[in-house]
Amino acid sequence: MNIRDESARCLLCANAKCTEVCPNGFDPARMIRAVRFDNARCAAKYVNTDICAVCDGKCERECIHPDFPIRIRKTASALPACEYTDKPSLEIDFMGIKCENPFFLSSSIVAGNYEMCANAFRMGWAGAVFKTIGFIKPDETSPRFDAIRKEGTPFVGFKNLEQISDHSLEENLSYLRRLKDDFPNKVIVASIMGETDEEWTELAKLVTDAGADIIECNFSCPQMVDEGLGSDVGQNPDLVKCYTECVKKGSSLPVLAKMTPNIGNMEVPAIAAVKGGADGIAAINTIKMYFRI
Ligand SMILES: Cc1cc2nc3c(=O)[nH]c(=O)nc-3n(C[C@H](O)[C@H](O)[C@H](O)COP(=O)(O)O)c2cc1C
Repeated sequence: MNIRDESARCLLCANAKCTEVCPNGFDPARMIRAVRFDNARCAAKYVNTDICAVCDGKCERECIHPDFPIRIRKTASALPACEYTDKPSLEIDFMGIKCENPFFLSSSIVAGNYEMCANAFRMGWAGAVFKTIGFIKPDETSPRFDAIRKEGTPFVGFKNLEQISDHSLEENLSYLRRLKDDFPNKVIVASIMGETDEEWTELAKLVTDAGADIIECNFSCPQMVDEGLGSDVGQNPDLVKCYTECVKKGSSLPVLAKMTPNIGNMEVPAIAAVKGGADGIAAINTIKMYFRI
């Protein structure tokens, strides 16, 4: 018997008797439909082939087909093993935080305000690392958007021309607050950058109060104009350890230390961050590129 042909005889009853009377609570009607519509690979999940093989077949006796009943038990016994169980899940646990999938916007131009993060959440992103915020407010031209082109391909990524956010700290904190209020199940990572020990601690407190789930320390921005910031910190293991400790002092949230790749051995600052209390390492910030003119 060809199960595809057998299922094609089914009359596709809306409230199928076969399912209604199954003493085991299976859904033979759904099984037949799956086979009929070329989804035999998951048909077996609606029945249990072993149990159907020894059942007395009430489903078939109740079948309303005018010629002869659909051979449900024979169909069940010929099914391929089910390749699917329940709905697939991409859920992960990240440093103790439940994330609906492992996809996050990185801290950058695409996560720089409420609307961008909100749109990403609506599209299914599990979280966003908000654009780095701090007390420092760079004076930049806007917009600072540019594409990286390569070998005739017009776009292979965004160029990183930016320092940290040029919105005020209050504005950024209000974005974080609104995002958490409107999307409580999404994961908000606050990327922060301070200039002093006190600023790192204070920023950690402020973003925690604003509803962040995770804090990321930006030890890695390659573009900061002033010295002692961004990747200057990431290349100095003592500062990395010290500032990580300051952040842990201001918050009990999990803390990520974001590394610069523009260094001989990234393990050295990464280990320093862990010694300072970091719960995870974010790798990596922008690779510096040198163009030959
Ligand atoms: C336009 C732009 C702005 C960025 N701004 C930040 C930032 O504010 N904070 C930060 O930690 N990383 C920043 N990044 C770095 C990204 O978060 C990311 O680490 C980097 O682009 C490397 O990842 P990719 O190879 O997937 O692009 C920025 C990157 C770009 C392109």
